[in-house]
Amino acid sequence: MQSLRTLNIVGCGKVGMTLGKLWSEAGVLAVARIMNRSMASATEAAAFMGAGTAVASIAELRPADIWLIGTPDDEIETSCGALAAAGLFAPGNLVFHCSGALPSTILHAAASAGAVTASAHPIRSFADPAQVAASFGNTYFGIEGEPSAAAALSEAVAAIGAIAVPIKPDFKTVYHAAAVFASNYLVTLLDTAQQAYIKAGIPEDTALQLMMPLVRGTVDNVFRLGPTDALTGPIARGDIITAVRQYRAVNAWDERYGALYKQFGKLTADIAARRRKSS
Ligand SMILES: NC(=O)c1ccc[n+]([C@@H]2O[C@H](COP(=O)([O-])OP(=O)(O)OC[C@H]3O[C@@H](n4cnc5c(N)ncnc54)[C@H](OP(=O)(O)O)[C@@H]3O)[C@@H](O)[C@H]2O)c1
Repeated sequence: MQSLRTLNIVGCGKVGMTLGKLWSEAGVLAVARIMNRSMASATEAAAFMGAGTAVASIAELRPADIWLIGTPDDEIETSCGALAAAGLFAPGNLVFHCSGALPSTILHAAASAGAVTASAHPIRSFADPAQVAASFGNTYFGIEGEPSAAAALSEAVAAIGAIAVPIKPDFKTVYHAAAVFASNYLVTLLDTAQQAYIKAGIPEDTALQLMMPLVRGTVDNVFRLGPTDALTGPIARGDIITAVRQYRAVNAWDERYGALYKQFGKLTADIAARRRKSS
């Protein structure tokens, strides 16, 4: 029987230990050595995974087929450089990180040693590793890198029930910004709406409550119909005079919100044009 490919995890925190546990329990990869900043946390990670040997230093690491560098983002490049300088990477090894913000090319020290490199970014929060591990199915991963590395990682994440989505390496930062639009800026947008209701004299709590059916209904429609068909309102109807009047009123109240309204208006007109073209 072919033996399992071995996985070393350098930086085995929330993400590293969750993936290590899932791969180990599913018999996809054999977790070998684990190194953190502190031996205590590496030992805890090994206990969580029920696999792997915690080590205290680079000198105690041994060769492995696959290396996950799961340190915080700012440490990935230096950690990779230190492992390469110690001669730990062999040609054909797969070295990857899980950052959504950084490209796989920051693993250049591993690539110079003949390893193939990639990044596999899980699109979810790992605040509670046990809870994430228990509900991992259908977790999306944005994957980019050297084609054979990206393919091997896609297979490995699929083997634990996740869904691999290839992304263009040159647009990794744009990919990461997408989550900021979908999550953080959505909050900013809803705050802006609440401020507008408050400006019109509605109490803060009531403003939030009355927005709820509007927001939930819109979000449901976006996921049911897609953004183009979910669009309603003055711009979708071509009611430009209303839109201009609203812009002027908002801008007179606060120029920052006015600028936002204008920019959203242009992008919303694009969506409306797209709909007219497709209908
Ligand atoms: N958390 C999330 O929700 C999430 C989601 C998607 C992607 N990611 C990405 O996943 C990666 C890991 O994030 P995380 O949340 O798992 O981080 P984390 O829980 O903070 O764990 C990082 C681990 O790295 C270790 N470490 C730090 N510096 C090190 C070094 N120089 N050498 C060896 N080990 C070192 C730490 O050791 P100690 O325990 O000893 O301090 C810790 O165990 C990051 O690239 C992050 O962007 C995170």
